[in-house]
Amino acid sequence: MRMQTMALVLATIAAPAAAQTRVTSPDNRNEVQVGIHEGALYYIVNRDGKSLLTPSRLGFVFRGQPPLRDSLRIADSSRSTFDETWTQPWGEVRRVRNHYNELKVSVQENTGPRRQFTLAVRAFNDGVAFRYEFPNQPNLGEFEIMDELTEFAFADNARAWSIPSNRPRLDRSEQLYSSQPISTLDSVQTPITMETRDGKTFMVLHEANLVDYARMNIAGPRMENRTLRVDLAPYADGVKVRGKTPFNTPWRTLQIADRAGDLAPSVLGLNLNPPSVIANTDWIKPMKYVGIWWGMHINTMTWSSGPKHGATTANTKQYIDFAAANGLGGVLVEGWNVGWDGDWIQNRNAFSFTQAYPDYDIVELARYAKSKGVHLIVHNETSGGIQNYERQIDSAFSMYERLGLDAIKSGYVTDLTSEGHSHWSQFMVNHYRHVIQKAAEHHIMLDAHEPIHDTGERRTYPNMMAREGARGQEYNAWGGEGGNPPEHETILFFTRMLTGPMDFTPGVFDILRTKTGPARRNEDSRVRTTLAKQLALYVVLYSPLQMAADLPENYAGQPAFQWIKDVAVDWDTSRVIDGKIGDYVIVARKQKDSPQWFLGAITDEEARTFDVPLTFLDPGKSYVADIYADGTGADWLTNPTPVRITHRTVTRATRLHIVLAKGGGQAVRIRPASAATTP
Ligand code: NOJ
Ligand code: CA
Repeated sequence: MRMQTMALVLATIAAPAAAQTRVTSPDNRNEVQVGIHEGALYYIVNRDGKSLLTPSRLGFVFRGQPPLRDSLRIADSSRSTFDETWTQPWGEVRRVRNHYNELKVSVQENTGPRRQFTLAVRAFNDGVAFRYEFPNQPNLGEFEIMDELTEFAFADNARAWSIPSNRPRLDRSEQLYSSQPISTLDSVQTPITMETRDGKTFMVLHEANLVDYARMNIAGPRMENRTLRVDLAPYADGVKVRGKTPFNTPWRTLQIADRAGDLAPSVLGLNLNPPSVIANTDWIKPMKYVGIWWGMHINTMTWSSGPKHGATTANTKQYIDFAAANGLGGVLVEGWNVGWDGDWIQNRNAFSFTQAYPDYDIVELARYAKSKGVHLIVHNETSGGIQNYERQIDSAFSMYERLGLDAIKSGYVTDLTSEGHSHWSQFMVNHYRHVIQKAAEHHIMLDAHEPIHDTGERRTYPNMMAREGARGQEYNAWGGEGGNPPEHETILFFTRMLTGPMDFTPGVFDILRTKTGPARRNEDSRVRTTLAKQLALYVVLYSPLQMAADLPENYAGQPAFQWIKDVAVDWDTSRVIDGKIGDYVIVARKQKDSPQWFLGAITDEEARTFDVPLTFLDPGKSYVADIYADGTGADWLTNPTPVRITHRTVTRATRLHIVLAKGGGQAVRIRPASAATTP
């Protein structure tokens, strides 16, 4: 049956029960309807009465059973409303309102095994979400899911920004985004950010509360229509999910907004996760950090032992001194532990997470860092050797806790785990969760690289702070085809960043890398932004763990380093002032427990100017703006380093004239004039 006809049929047949099988958002703009047509279960999504998703089918394939998708009927339905406002221990915003209307539809098979489940649907003002809830039942106990049949049939052939999932060859989030009409999408990852052809609606397809299930990728439309399908990451043997009833799937989420800028900061996914299970979160603290890290990527240091070994006791003390002198909270040290010699990707089971190289005195360094008020951040690269890591977790995390080490950056380089499972399989979802829980038990904050995508875990476990999960600054160090083009960060803001904080590692000042020798991989290793844009990224790309990525010596004698010292990492409020996906973004954020605001503006390869009204400032107050702008003649390609630093008085009535160079940016600190002393 054609889709348009089916929409009518669905509306008609659902009519007698319409009141029970539809739910609208509190502002009445978003609507979800659930109905049966010829034994199949469908849902549709409307906004302001206009169709966003046409009838989209739901169902499952379980191993050894007939598919759960035919001969279905709605046995019962109920509705409820929920409204609460909760406080984040850290984040882009302090207070989050969780307000929705919920519809629960009990679905029953008429024939065969007579299985049953509930479809739970929540309609929020900023989007809609649904999940399947399976109760305990006679014919569905232990199960293996071979396929989730959930569809998303988009009404409009919207433009979609995404990265490929490339399954099964590569499971990597570290790819460049591209945009294309929905009808031409192939196999892609979520989040997928979409703009309808009339430019009036923006949508983000993603998932929330991914627990004990496989990560959702998306398979592109069949036969040139606009229907996307769930494509779950598999175990080595092809099974997608193993479980037993009672059991809930993650939420499938569609964030909806009228403007691209209204998509951020995104809280839909957070609201669909359970509240924090960590009672006292006082030990969880956002911070800026430096690290023995960039040196390995630009080839001035090595992870492995030898003459260029970066993680030496003496070197680390210098980094600790540098952090302490500049008010930066942490020092990351990579290559401290045995296992990096030889091919560390192949030899993944050789990593020790407790034994340091002989030239790294971890006990002394833990003591020294503590005496200086600096957090020593431990690095745990696993290379995907999961069993090797899990075997050592208890002893390693106990040792870190004993030494007062309360932050870990983890790493999962490689595509398949040592067991042959997809990087994003249920096996890995459970592993990442296990590490978060173990870390919480030992009072350890986490920053995961090569992670599973963020589905809001930080609400339940606020020690899960930052992660990578996209192409970060490291790609600029490697150079060649791998460098991040100037538009990259303007896309990240509207895609990856809508899922949660990213450890992008901004702040490289030696943009052209004139000060150090050849890079590890390519001669043209360089950063593809202006220096002022590096500064603006501290505000634009949110992370509670924000790195000053360059070598400390590259900050020496640089007046712009003052910005990195001053910029906040924890926020009361965040406002997107303007933005266009892939072109530019202007964000203002108010520091937590402070009257200061910080503004970041970035552009792609085009130069742009803006007049930004500072109406977010308090009335009747005068402020000083410290402005870090692209200097005369700045251009990311030819002349990236000039920065012009000026100070001026501003008020709520000021329109700040912002000029961005090609590939440029601007960073502005706005502080009350009464407390201000112009440096
Ligand atoms: C990739 C990570 O993104 C990077 O930060 C780290 O230095 C290397 N893996 C080694 O673990
Ligand atoms: Ca990485």
